[in-house]
Amino acid sequence: MKNIKIFPSPKDLAIAAAEEFIRIADQAIQEQGYFSAALSGGKTPKMLYKILADPLNQARLCWNRIHLFFGDERYVPHDHSDSNYRMVKDILINHIDIPARNIFPVQTEGEIHQAAACYETSMRAFFTGDWPRLDLVLLGMGEDGHTASLFPNSTGLQNITNWFIENFAPKRNAWRLTLTKNVINCARNVLVLVSGESKAEMLKKVLYGPVDPIEKPIQLISPQSGQVTWMLDRDAAQKLPKAN
Ligand code: 6PG
Repeated sequence: MKNIKIFPSPKDLAIAAAEEFIRIADQAIQEQGYFSAALSGGKTPKMLYKILADPLNQARLCWNRIHLFFGDERYVPHDHSDSNYRMVKDILINHIDIPARNIFPVQTEGEIHQAAACYETSMRAFFTGDWPRLDLVLLGMGEDGHTASLFPNSTGLQNITNWFIENFAPKRNAWRLTLTKNVINCARNVLVLVSGESKAEMLKKVLYGPVDPIEKPIQLISPQSGQVTWMLDRDAAQKLPKAN
């Protein structure tokens, strides 16, 4: 049974996602003393990050117990306009009282395989065990059905050994860095935020069409013991069966 929540507007979606983030963080901190989250890039989560950065929410989040990772990153310098780290820093990190040691940006200098390996090493230094158990992975969905930087027909879809890899996006002719499907599927909570009419057709195919994860990689996301919650605005959900 899919856990789908539909909200009237992008702002309502962002407000609800912020409440979920805070709820999951509180629960993790109560249970284990800290909260680990992998943030997504792109445009959709910007409003969520702005709400989390709001002074009204500072008292609700113990940022010194919160550890921020990145679900994926573009292979660009941190000051590049495409950098997910730059986007999160500008909207969230610069406005909250979080220790620098709690933030894990993907170092994108140097050779890309080394960059991926270096990030995986930093994750392995934080998490114990064969696979990391992130408390939350935030995801978006592209119009082509990708998530994180797991793109259709990309070699990274087949990787079952690494935590974090470089991955070439064929249609974008660009290299990216991303969590692998196994790491995302080890998360305790996955929130998929999808907004806008342009995602409606693909969302219907992903949720109710044939299973074809090579063409629609977000269909790979199915945590073994975690919970996936699809958080949609009305425009993105407009082609779903009305039962939703
Ligand atoms: C990225 C994201 C990517 C994003 C989707 C949706 O680095 O771009 O991690 O997976 O979530 O492409 O992007 P929008 O939110 O901009 O539509």
